[in-house]
Amino acid sequence: MTNQHQPAAPPHCGAAVVSEARALEWAVRLGAKSWVSARPNPPVGCVVLTRSGKCVGYGRHTSPGEPHAEVVALQMAGSQSKDSTVVVTLEPCNHHGRTPPCTERILKSGVRRVVYATKDPNPAAEGGSDFLKHHGIDVEHVPHRLADRLNAPHVTWSMKSRPHVIAKWAQSPEGNMCPPPTHGQWISSVRSRMEVHRIRGRVDAVLTGMGSVIADDCLLSPRNHKRRQTPLIAVASRSRSLPPTARVLENPSVELITEGNPLDQLKALQRLGAHVVLLEAGPRLLHAYWKANLIDEAWIFVGPKPMPDGTGRSPVPSPEKRLRGHPKGFTMDLGPDRLYQIPIESKG
Ligand SMILES: NC(=O)c1ccc[n+]([C@@H]2O[C@H](COP(=O)([O-])OP(=O)(O)OC[C@H]3O[C@@H](n4cnc5c(N)ncnc54)[C@H](OP(=O)(O)O)[C@@H]3O)[C@@H](O)[C@H]2O)c1
Repeated sequence: MTNQHQPAAPPHCGAAVVSEARALEWAVRLGAKSWVSARPNPPVGCVVLTRSGKCVGYGRHTSPGEPHAEVVALQMAGSQSKDSTVVVTLEPCNHHGRTPPCTERILKSGVRRVVYATKDPNPAAEGGSDFLKHHGIDVEHVPHRLADRLNAPHVTWSMKSRPHVIAKWAQSPEGNMCPPPTHGQWISSVRSRMEVHRIRGRVDAVLTGMGSVIADDCLLSPRNHKRRQTPLIAVASRSRSLPPTARVLENPSVELITEGNPLDQLKALQRLGAHVVLLEAGPRLLHAYWKANLIDEAWIFVGPKPMPDGTGRSPVPSPEKRLRGHPKGFTMDLGPDRLYQIPIESKG
């Protein structure tokens, strides 16, 4: 097994006694390292604990065709797998894909207990938990917000057979997306824009509408943050071609998407190899996706400056209200702005 399966060890691996909750945090951190490279597979992380709570193995699934996280971690644990607890970010798979089922490996290793965070909805892989229980293993489902976020693209892919859509936009405190001419171009701060560059370098495609290209002449590249990959830049227009001087054309990979229906646009991006799409459009295309129920996560950057004369009503004028009571939602300050990350229960 190569070193690429063995990222930095969880702190105190092999020494201190840790709780299952702590081990799950480590497993999530391991999985996060594979968020881009594992696609279209889920970015799973796994930690193996002895009965006394000593970490004896850990691993992650790095890329399709490579061993699953449980296999990497159990291999490291070796004979200490017997009687151990496997703590993993996703329910162990139960099917023969490119690699044998993890459930079989868990059984063969003599594992006593399995703790997993996200239930696998993939019809081809599900049932791992029931299979293990049936064979006498103590299995516990412990939901974890960050594990669910890591697995969200896999869940979308499994349930809807289309790319996962993260819609990102900026708005004023009143919920307006387009500033009046007196305001200047930016609603959000440099710090927020850095965060946007970070996520651009982790998605497969950035999608915008021709309206934004014409109005803002945006570049849309992940230039101000270390990137994990360079996304395809896609511009949706049913009838217009890209102006030859448009700055988006400076990107290495640019596509004009001529389909008019948002689902057809996503299918076109899927054919181009996209599993995770960042929708960075103006109000027209954004509302088309909102109405079509094709947004899985909303990332809403609220700037501090009032813009009562602004236009382009946001689909979520009061993110604070929408976030309330949403256990998987999250909010944080970014410089003078506030970012709301809210999963949207999309149907399409
Ligand atoms: N606050 C923010 O986060 C943010 C982000 C981006 C832009 N903006 C602002 O938004 C304004 C531009 O707004 P916009 O709404 O025109 O931009 P847009 O939503 O990015 O682009 C709209 C264009 O997308 C194309 N399109 C393709 N399929 C569509 C569909 N199913 N439904 C609707 N449109 C579709 C249409 O062009 P065709 O007619 O050629 O098909 C349409 O004119 C600018 O002022 C810009 O500064 C704000």
